Amino acid sequence: MKGHIIGTAMKIRKAVFPAAGFGTRFLPATKAIPKEMLPLIDKPLIQYVVEEAKLSGLEEIIIVTGMGKTAIEDHFDTSFELELLLKEKGMKDTLNMIEEISSLVHFAYTRQKKPKGLGDAILCTKNLVGKEPFAVLLGDDIIDSRVPAMKQMIRIFDGYKSSVLAVQEVPENQTHLYGIIKAKKIAPRVYEVLDLVEKPKKNPPSNLAIIGRYLLIPEIFNALETTRPDKGGEIQLTDAIKLLSKKHRIYAYEFEGERYDAGDKLGFLKANVSFALKRPDIRQGFKKFLNELKI
Ligand code: G1P
Repeated sequence: MKGHIIGTAMKIRKAVFPAAGFGTRFLPATKAIPKEMLPLIDKPLIQYVVEEAKLSGLEEIIIVTGMGKTAIEDHFDTSFELELLLKEKGMKDTLNMIEEISSLVHFAYTRQKKPKGLGDAILCTKNLVGKEPFAVLLGDDIIDSRVPAMKQMIRIFDGYKSSVLAVQEVPENQTHLYGIIKAKKIAPRVYEVLDLVEKPKKNPPSNLAIIGRYLLIPEIFNALETTRPDKGGEIQLTDAIKLLSKKHRIYAYEFEGERYDAGDKLGFLKANVSFALKRPDIRQGFKKFLNELKI
């Protein structure tokens, strides 16, 4: 009989953000700038996801960084010189906005020594997370929704008291880009996961793809430690979750909201266009420009 995590601290407080990747899909833009810092309109991608975590009630953000990622730490730190300058110039609104970033939540950082995959990045946070359930948010996935996607997932976690993966239906010709689940629907938008395959080349078990939001029980760390690297030498989180599923129930939740793959050029552009059309300060001008394009 598969167990739940009765007896463990249940409130989700911590959120892990893997941000050690090289961002090769965005070179040369990401040669000297972390991909997480690419702006969606005027805010770095990672800040949208940190704000989602905060709005979902998460209190501590653990960012897994690597070489060349100091801009992320600087972004979420206080900037004394900048704040002084804005104060002197009387730019009160901008000052407030800048001060708010560093006071969003508590940040902790750890580094992934070698690029050994998403699973290995999560394993780097074992000591910082400790023995409590935690969230994982992938910065490439920007989700625009009325209720923050992570908040929707925490509600499911609170009900089922075991790991929850965010999923979304994708077209069949895209299943090779995602972790794909085989699942049994047990309630509206909720599935019990029966099997998982990372980026299946053929015969995907369904078209339900894992999107970058996870709620995991701490037993995932044992699973990660015993997960074998894939052919490319990477430890896949999907493979570790499959291992975890042998002993613990895994649920999947089809969240409500629009998701953009901001780690992909086209997805990044779509996110920029769609967010720009929602921004009161630029909407009109941008709409006019788009209409004039006559494409
Ligand atoms: C990762 C995961 C994959 C998941 C995807 C969601 O892949 O390994 O299972 O479907 O994120 O964005 P990546 O896109 O980092 O290659």
